[in-house]
Amino acid sequence: MATPSQVDKHWTVEERGDYRLPPGLKRNLPLYLFSRFFRPGNPIRLFEYLAVTFGRVSCYRIGPSDVVVMNDPELIRDVLIAQPQNFVKERTQRRMKILLGEGLITSDGDIHKRQRRIAAPAFHRQRIQAYASSMVERAAAMRDAWQAGVEVDASAEMMQLTLQIVARTLFNSDVTKDVQRINDEVNAIMRLYNFLVALPRAEDLLHLPIPGLMRFKRARRRLDTVVYRMIQDHRAAGIDSGDLLSMLLASRDEEDDHSGMTDEQLRDEVLTIFLAGYETVANALTWTWLLLGQNQDAEAKLHAEVDAVLGERLPTLEDIPQLRYTEMVLAESMRLYPPAWAMGRQATCDVEIGPYKLPAGTYIFFSQYIIQRNADFFPDPLKFDPERFTLEHKAGRPRFAYFPFGGGNRQCIGESFAWMEAILSLVTLAQKWRLKLVPGQRIEVQPKITLRPKYGIRMVPELR
Ligand code: HEM
Repeated sequence: MATPSQVDKHWTVEERGDYRLPPGLKRNLPLYLFSRFFRPGNPIRLFEYLAVTFGRVSCYRIGPSDVVVMNDPELIRDVLIAQPQNFVKERTQRRMKILLGEGLITSDGDIHKRQRRIAAPAFHRQRIQAYASSMVERAAAMRDAWQAGVEVDASAEMMQLTLQIVARTLFNSDVTKDVQRINDEVNAIMRLYNFLVALPRAEDLLHLPIPGLMRFKRARRRLDTVVYRMIQDHRAAGIDSGDLLSMLLASRDEEDDHSGMTDEQLRDEVLTIFLAGYETVANALTWTWLLLGQNQDAEAKLHAEVDAVLGERLPTLEDIPQLRYTEMVLAESMRLYPPAWAMGRQATCDVEIGPYKLPAGTYIFFSQYIIQRNADFFPDPLKFDPERFTLEHKAGRPRFAYFPFGGGNRQCIGESFAWMEAILSLVTLAQKWRLKLVPGQRIEVQPKITLRPKYGIRMVPELR
C-alpha cells in the first residue's frame, strides 16, 4: 500500500502541559492493537494506518510511554543528524544486549563512540576491497550449482550465499561446521527472541528457571564457545589473515588510550557484524530477484549492462563503477523492500523537534518501508523504476526520503561492503541465469528484525 500525498506543510500540535505533541490515537495502543491491528508479526499495518490517517507525524501511547511516528524527512534529519546526543536506541534494540552485549548495534553514548572508532578502519573502502574476489568466487560457485529448470527458494539461496561470504570475510573460513553452528544457534536464539522481548525485564530474569530463558542461555553458551575459540585461534596465529576479525584484533583506539578490544568486546562485535551483515544483504538480493522476475524491461536492461561490461569473464572490483544500472536496480529494490524496514530511538531528555516538544522517555520510530513509498518523493510509488536513481533524480529528493542504511553517527558501518557484495553477487549470477517466478505462489513481507519474504520466493533458473 502506498501512503497518500503529504505535501501539505500545516503542522498540527496538541498541547499537554509544557509539551507539544503531534495528533494521534486517543486510546492506549494495546486497545487498538486488539481491536484493529492484531495481526501478529505485521507491525507495518500500524505504521501504514498512522501515515494514512495523520500524515507526516503522529503519536500514540503504549502503557505510560509516548510513541511518536515520523514520516517526514526533515524531522528524521533532526533526530539522526542534528541532535543524536539526545537519543539512545529504542528498548527492543537495547534488549538485544542479552545476545549482542555492548556491540555497535546495541551500545550507546561513549561506549558506542569508542567501539565505532576502533571498528571503523576494518570497514574502510580500501580495506574491504580485498573481499571482492571472495564474494565473486562464492557467487560463481552457486552459479555453477544451479540447474536449469530445477526450482530454488531464492530466499534460502541468497541466505546461503551471504552466509558463506560473511564466513570468508569475517573469519577467513569456508562455511565450516563452526560457522554453520554459529548460524544455527543464532537462528534458534532469534526464534526465542520474540518471547524474550515480550517479557518486561528479560535481562533481569535470566537466572530464573523459565524454560524459554533456559533454552536461550544454553544456545548462547554454545554460541560463545565457538566464537571465543575463533578469537583465540586468531590471536594465537598472530598474523593478519586479511579478514575482519584480524582487523578488529589489531585495531587500537587512536584518539584515546591506544587500547584495543577485550575478548568480550570482540565477541560482541563479531556477533553483531555476523547478524547485521548477512541477512540484510540476503534480503536485498532476494527481493531484487522477485522484482526482476516481475519486470522484464528492467531485467533486459540489466542483462544488457552485464553483457556489455563483463562479456564472459567474471566481474572484479574495477567493474563496479561501470555497473551503474545494476546499482540502480538494487537501490530501487531497497526502496520498495528495505531490508532494515524501521528504526527507533528513545529521547534521554526533553527534546524539541520541529514544532514539537516531547518529554524525556518518548519513543520515536520511522519506517523506511513507509517513507520510501511516499508519492511526494516517489511518484507512482509502487512501480518498480530503477531510473529514480539516476544522479539527477536523486539530487531532487530530501536526504531522508530514502535511507535504507540509516544516517548520522550510527549510519550502517557496512554500507560499502553491502553495495559491493550485492552488485558483485547479482551480476555474477545474472551472467548465466534468469530466475523465473513460479506462478500462483503467495508472496508476503514478514517484518521481523529484517524484512523477509514470509513464505520464501520460489523461482526457476533458466539459462540466458
Ligand atoms: C543491504 C544491506 C544492509 C542494510 C540495508 C543495512 C542497514 C542498516 C541500518 C539502517 C543501520 C542503522 C540502524 C540504526 O541507526 O538504528 C545499520 C547499522 C549497522 N550495520 Fe548495516 N545494513 C546492511 C548491511 C550491513 C553489513 C554488510 C554489515 C557488516 C558487514 C553491517 C553492519 C552494521 C553495523 C555494525 C551497524 C551498527 C552501526 C552503529 O550503530 O554504529 N550492515 N545497518
